[in-house]
Amino acid sequence: MGQAWGFGKHGGPEVQEFFDRPDPVPGRGEVLIRVAVAGVNPLDHVLRSGPVPGLDGGRPFPRVLGMEAAGTVLALGEDVDGLEVGDAVFGFALTGDGTYAETTVLSAPNTARIPAGLSATVAATLPVAGTTAVDALDQLGLPAGATILVNGVGGGVGLAVARLAAARELRVIGTGSTAKREHAEAIGVRFIDYTAEDVVAAARELVPDGFAGIVDLAGGTSLRTVAPLAKEPRTIISVGDMSVPDLGGRLVERRLDRANLERAARLALDGVLAPVITAVHPLSDAPAALATVENGHSAGKVVIKMA
Ligand SMILES: NC(=O)c1ccc[n+]([C@@H]2O[C@H](COP(=O)([O-])OP(=O)(O)OC[C@H]3O[C@@H](n4cnc5c(N)ncnc54)[C@H](OP(=O)(O)O)[C@@H]3O)[C@@H](O)[C@H]2O)c1
Repeated sequence: MGQAWGFGKHGGPEVQEFFDRPDPVPGRGEVLIRVAVAGVNPLDHVLRSGPVPGLDGGRPFPRVLGMEAAGTVLALGEDVDGLEVGDAVFGFALTGDGTYAETTVLSAPNTARIPAGLSATVAATLPVAGTTAVDALDQLGLPAGATILVNGVGGGVGLAVARLAAARELRVIGTGSTAKREHAEAIGVRFIDYTAEDVVAAARELVPDGFAGIVDLAGGTSLRTVAPLAKEPRTIISVGDMSVPDLGGRLVERRLDRANLERAARLALDGVLAPVITAVHPLSDAPAALATVENGHSAGKVVIKMA
């Protein structure tokens, strides 16, 4: 039996609730874990707000929030390779329930061991933001010395993209609101405050020939505003805006497999993907943790740490 935080029906934050539930039983290809830390992501409130085909599997209510976690394996379902009871692991809850809970099931092919020396708190931030940053920069495939624009640099994915890009010797210009300047500049980003500057004019002044690539985390009007700054539209990679092909750009192609998680963990161990964790909440404070992300302007990564 363990405590979980989720929602009894689709809707706004008012449908969220704490509840107790028996430990879930891991199915084929799943592992049951004792959750140490759960990462908080924008998709969590999106899945609470309404059905998302292909992502919530028609699970019964109440549903638990959260997609990523780190913890310790308590039991294995059938057909699980490469993981053992007692392993410290991190990964995605794709097939089972969510991760804002004392225990949950993770999808074994989308779960990896935490290497010695890496904390559960850091590991819990890697499945969503960490591997997305890796995938976006792999997709761009730019040589050292190229300049990219990171639109929405101050959030979980944006700061990870900026760190990785710097390690690849790319020059990074990033957009965000005033409070993100310090986080961005601390990792070498040339920051443009969209609340105080004309983004297009400032970017053109810094990079008159246009950007070799744009990684977009903000989408919508802001993506449309910065899109003409790319030298070639196909070098615009959006992580969240499904309409990016209309601009000639591409959606990020995601790799959720164990090998990509292991790669992200190695990069984190080397300090290349060190996430900026701006808030650590206990499970009892999960409403505040998700509210921070749901307001659309959070900084770095927010996580929930179990007792
Ligand atoms: N496809 C995938 O697998 C995948 C994976 C991860 C994330 N995503 C999606 O990618 C998006 C970003 O994720 P995240 O985890 O980084 O979210 P996040 O941590 O909430 O960060 C989003 C950032 O965008 C900034 N922002 C908002 N409006 C902006 C604007 N007009 N111009 C520049 N920056 C702006 C926000 O702060 P300020 O406005 O205060 O600067 C915030 O820091 C979300 O839509 C998420 O669902 C998709």
